[in-house]
Amino acid sequence: MKQSIANQAVRDFFLLFSPGRSHRLLERSLAHLDDHPKCLGLANRLGLEPQPEPAAEVGRLNLQSPLVLGAGLVKGLGFASEAAALRAVGQRQNIIPGWRAVPAIVGPVEFGSFTPKPRMGNSQPTLWRDRAGKTLYNRVGLRNPGIAAAANFLGARAYQLPMVWGISLAPDPEETDRQKRQDSLASAAYTLVDCGLSPSWVTVNLSCPNAEPEGGQRLPDTQSPDEARQLCQAVRDELPAEVVVWAKVGPDHSQATYFELAHALAQAGVEAVIATNTTSRTPPSHLQPPKSSCGKPATEKLFAGMSGAGLQPYALRAVKSLAEASKKLPLEVIGCGGIMDGKTFLDFKAAGAVAVQYWSALVFRGPLAADIIAAEARTLTGTKTGRVDTNMDKAQTKQATDLR
Ligand SMILES: Cc1cc2nc3c(=O)[nH]c(=O)nc-3n(C[C@H](O)[C@H](O)[C@H](O)COP(=O)(O)O)c2cc1C
Repeated sequence: MKQSIANQAVRDFFLLFSPGRSHRLLERSLAHLDDHPKCLGLANRLGLEPQPEPAAEVGRLNLQSPLVLGAGLVKGLGFASEAAALRAVGQRQNIIPGWRAVPAIVGPVEFGSFTPKPRMGNSQPTLWRDRAGKTLYNRVGLRNPGIAAAANFLGARAYQLPMVWGISLAPDPEETDRQKRQDSLASAAYTLVDCGLSPSWVTVNLSCPNAEPEGGQRLPDTQSPDEARQLCQAVRDELPAEVVVWAKVGPDHSQATYFELAHALAQAGVEAVIATNTTSRTPPSHLQPPKSSCGKPATEKLFAGMSGAGLQPYALRAVKSLAEASKKLPLEVIGCGGIMDGKTFLDFKAAGAVAVQYWSALVFRGPLAADIIAAEARTLTGTKTGRVDTNMDKAQTKQATDLR
């Protein structure tokens, strides 16, 4: 009861503002909670605290909940240069709002995505919210402080990080040279280790649909099976064996490409694939903000990554294809895209996902979305755990198959 009142109050408060404004307000509130553990303790006592969930196994990783907050919330501030970002770390600025508060409130979290170079992200407008359709559109554009500053910041707080947490790395969208993309991502992975960080998993984000490279050039195709394998292998090689590598892909591939991708990822030592990231769409015109701060007229067609309920059928199709493709591979599938309630969670599990990630549910269901969805799934299945065993024989197949 206490939980549900606190959850609804927080959700409804942030829905009062425009999406951009509520995102900025959220970042400021999270920074405050990070810096004032007493306030965080109070928030937890008021009901904003994750409930113990049955654990979920993703390969050799044991998560305390089958619902993980996906990348994109705890990713930090944007900076124009690495020097400026490192200076901010030196001045003890909180460059990653939510680093302490978000895991304490929602449970397992994937931090990032962090790119090798810092990014300011796109100019406003960057976020749209379709409340009736439970769908978000974002063109944040991978705003982040860059891996050097992020790893230094988190490294200095390593002892306060959760026991189980993940971090997402993405190649620089502006990097046109394939070898340099690979080298800089490998070096980003090395930086994590060098700064004393030991995340439970590192995700290679191969799909960044809403990053707009400067000068209007095309985004590099990091999801071609060949490049996906090389990027993931490069990251795998830099990390200690106990750190698990995952990869994240987009929702718009053919079944044949998902098949090739699954094989390429397994070959590179990736243990789970997250399906999916957002898909590129123009936000419906009735959602367009009247005028953006950069002066662009409202009628201008902007592309943004669609997430939430609108993404769900595409993500579910991708999960089915990848689960089919990875049946005989040492590769698990993590569903992501429009998991809003117990039913959609169970749909993804039935399609072959061993766990799921969510983002938009945080906006439409509130900060305790993971607990609410897990409880709904339990009610629907009439079980205590809400587990659906789609991968019973997979463990046996995996033992016999060693692609590496
Ligand atoms: C504002 C925003 C920022 C995001 N940033 C990232 C990111 O940096 N890296 C990433 O892999 N995914 C990012 N995502 C995608 C989410 O992690 C997730 O894949 C997507 O929203 C689909 O899940 P959902 O339908 O539950 O929201 C972002 C999503 C949103 C809404």
